Amino acid sequence: MSNKPSLNRFDKIAPFYDGMTKLIFGGSILKAQRIHLRIIPREASILVLGGGSGNWLVDFLKEKPTCKIWYVEASLVMLEKATQKLNFSNNIQFIHGTHLDIPKTEFDVVITHFFVDMFREDQIMELAQQMSAKLKINGVWLVADFVNKNYWHRFLLWLMYRFFKIIDAIDVKSLPDWDQAIRSKHFTVGECNSFYGQFIQSNVYSCDKKVAT
Ligand SMILES: C[S@@+](CC[C@H](N)C(=O)[O-])C[C@H]1O[C@@H](n2cnc3c(N)ncnc32)[C@H](O)[C@@H]1O
Repeated sequence: MSNKPSLNRFDKIAPFYDGMTKLIFGGSILKAQRIHLRIIPREASILVLGGGSGNWLVDFLKEKPTCKIWYVEASLVMLEKATQKLNFSNNIQFIHGTHLDIPKTEFDVVITHFFVDMFREDQIMELAQQMSAKLKINGVWLVADFVNKNYWHRFLLWLMYRFFKIIDAIDVKSLPDWDQAIRSKHFTVGECNSFYGQFIQSNVYSCDKKVAT
């Protein structure tokens, strides 16, 4: 991911994003975002990349207020929404930036939900390498995203990628094989769950070999 990514490309859609995904996918997106949060220890340091409006974190933070979160989000409008929703916690640092602006610290947990689908496979491999350097030993990377397993998945993905391209929120035109790209950088999948007719997958990755960047 060497090119400097631009900020605020999700600003236009940010006011409607959560409503739109709820309309299309019902509660499946929220389920996929939350399913693995229960494995996070109470004192964990957590990096959230591209967290959007952050509504999926509200209950988690009420339950585990001692976790420390770095919330890196490229869209200012999304970040403002997250700031408003999560303002009851003193343990979040909000950063208006991208994966190139991650603080120089190591984390117990990294969370990227519906994030890796915006990149090419070679970019995801670079990201995975970056994450392996950022994760502490025994750290985990939680990923929830779409997968392409049959004809109606392909149809919905075609519609979604066209839509996000038209509003100029993303550059890629199709879903990368993000799972393969992540695994290729020494990550192994532990727990995994599917939602919405297996169109959405939530995986817990651990890193077998820490790589220096
Ligand atoms: C598809 S949305 C997903 C939002 C949220 N994670 C969710 O599950 O609802 C992707 C988010 O990533 C943000 N984003 C895009 N590129 C980014 C980058 N390079 N670094 C950090 N955030 C980024 C966008 O602004 C947007 O809010």
